[in-house]
Amino acid sequence: MSSIGFDARDMDFVQNPYPFYRRLRDEAPAYHHEESGLWFISRFTDVERAATDHATFSSSRGNVVIDSPTRVGKTLGSMDPPRHDELRRIIQRSLAPARIEAILPFVREETRARLAAFADNRRCDLVADIGRPILFGALGRMLGLDAVGASKATELTAGLFHQDDGLLGSVLQPEDFQAIFAFLGEEMSKRTVEKGDDLISVLLEAQANGAPLNDQEIVANLSTVLMAGNASIGHFFPNLMHALWLHPDQRRLVREDPSRILAAIEESVRWDTSTQSFARHVMQDVEIAGQRIPAGSRALVLFASANRDERSIPEPDRFDIERKRVRHFGFGLGPHVCAGTQVARAMLREMLQVLLPVMGDFDLDTANAERVKHVMVRGFINLGVEWK
Ligand code: HEM
Repeated sequence: MSSIGFDARDMDFVQNPYPFYRRLRDEAPAYHHEESGLWFISRFTDVERAATDHATFSSSRGNVVIDSPTRVGKTLGSMDPPRHDELRRIIQRSLAPARIEAILPFVREETRARLAAFADNRRCDLVADIGRPILFGALGRMLGLDAVGASKATELTAGLFHQDDGLLGSVLQPEDFQAIFAFLGEEMSKRTVEKGDDLISVLLEAQANGAPLNDQEIVANLSTVLMAGNASIGHFFPNLMHALWLHPDQRRLVREDPSRILAAIEESVRWDTSTQSFARHVMQDVEIAGQRIPAGSRALVLFASANRDERSIPEPDRFDIERKRVRHFGFGLGPHVCAGTQVARAMLREMLQVLLPVMGDFDLDTANAERVKHVMVRGFINLGVEWK
């Protein structure tokens, strides 16, 4: 077992982590990574347990491998019920269906504008030229930022998970975290007069109506939606395009009938999600797959491995958009299940509806693409695309 080493910078893992996960599931379903002290949990049923049993697998010390003290205990992803559920109900108001509908025209128009900008040579970078400006721009607006603020937020969060640093990878340098918090703090203090139904307003309103939320918690939660949203959807968009490119038959099915776009998004998030894993703190001794994990340990819950566990999902390595619906962890499970699931599905659907008819049988330059090197995140730093 100890012969299974791990380094997020190992190029075999970076290119394709799924053989490593399979090995973990088969040989060491609760694997202790000596160097980091993390316990990797990889089988479907164990991941399900870890995601739902928050008394044993707590988020209260943060849900990324090494979390930032500026966030821990203040954000949705770094606290447990019941406080978590109370805060989530407030945040969910700013991600309600009407807010999603309101942002879709921006997504559509921006996608058309980006395509028009590259209409001459029909090649660009999927991450920097398409995904980031559209998705980060849209999320910034949902937060309540104006166009200038949204591009500033895009700039500040562009490097998330791109540090290429350390055995597990690193999220951001502490000074970058501080810069994001400082920027969001300023944005919050600007917004005292005109309130709308964006996240900044919703949180300020809740505070004014007596919700137990201090300013630091407001800023921390703005940062969670901004960072959770951007890191996950920003990295997922190229993964989705990559999955379609790798499977031209599936891409053809989607192009022939755009009502299949949502099924393609769902299968991609199962097959190759951007959020590969999240961390939890082990609150009491627990046995996982016959292995005792002591209280006080940190666990890494491998959602992406569970999504490929043949013990629970038939032919899990096959990318099949017509697959009978299966349960998966692409958007997580339990109290922390992604708060932006509907936002993500709607934005990506809108983008693909505009992109696919124009890009058609697009080609990807995977030979020159750079991938993220982080245990928690799978995605591309750049990925060239070309179309006829
Ligand atoms: C394809 C895109 C996305 C994927 C794959 C994804 C995946 C996930 C996953 C797996 C979690 C669970 C984290 C945990 O268990 O600790 C999560 C949580 C979260 N996501 Fe997403 N997400 C996506 C898009 C978004 C978007 C667009 C937003 C914001 C609008 C968002 C906001 C959040 C928030 C706030 C949480 C924390 C929820 C909580 O702890 O209660 N996500 N996401």
